[in-house]
Amino acid sequence: MRRPLIAGNWKMNTTVGEAATLVKDMLSALSAVNGIDRILCPPFISLQRVSDIVKGSSVEVGAQNMYFKDKGAFTGEISPLMLKELCKYVILGHSERRQFFGETDETVNAKLKAALAAGLLPIFCIGESLEENEAGRTKDILARQVTGGLKEIAANKDLVIAYEPVWAIGTGKAATGDQAGQTIAFIRNTLASVWNNETAQSVRILYGGSVTSANIAEFISEPHIDGALVGGASLKAADFIEIVRQTAAIKQ
Ligand code: PGA
Repeated sequence: MRRPLIAGNWKMNTTVGEAATLVKDMLSALSAVNGIDRILCPPFISLQRVSDIVKGSSVEVGAQNMYFKDKGAFTGEISPLMLKELCKYVILGHSERRQFFGETDETVNAKLKAALAAGLLPIFCIGESLEENEAGRTKDILARQVTGGLKEIAANKDLVIAYEPVWAIGTGKAATGDQAGQTIAFIRNTLASVWNNETAQSVRILYGGSVTSANIAEFISEPHIDGALVGGASLKAADFIEIVRQTAAIKQ
């Protein structure tokens, strides 16, 4: 049995004060739900504050990115060792990082290695663009991203993968549960050939892209989908709490 997981990616939203208010608005309701991992991923500068607020609760914290070196002359970057003191998870290879900040399968691979070496748990994001989808290249792209991202990385059940079709992120046009379920089954098969079947059956694979409290049930009802990476709706306390509640209830 794979434990369900819902992660909120706040992206470049919330000041430190707003982040503190948002987590306080969610904390008691999120803590009351059982049998599910709940992860909040605020901007770097709010990690300390959010970690302090959730301390002692069952809510966990993740970063949204990370550099692959431990320290040195890399102005403006944040290292795995710095994150390790503040959070347990780190989102890597998000499509916005690939699209706007030049990340490639190679840099994502280096980041995944560095995160695992530091004892952080990566949420490894993959997904095809609209153009790739319409050209019928979805499977090729996903297989390339999985194989390239995991190059020379030993099988690891603690890795989390998030399948986020780029055309569904922030657009209000989510995939259907059926589409996402089939694609995630393909990703699990690919993982079985890159690693092995036992590990592939244990790794949690999330769907992401315009998830809300109104459509979460459709995704979570799919046997291969273990949770969601939620952007916009994770900035609204009531919506995010409802997404966590429904996921825990359906996966019970
Ligand atoms: P969205 O973002 O839920 O706002 O579509 C998801 C993500 O990018 O992780």
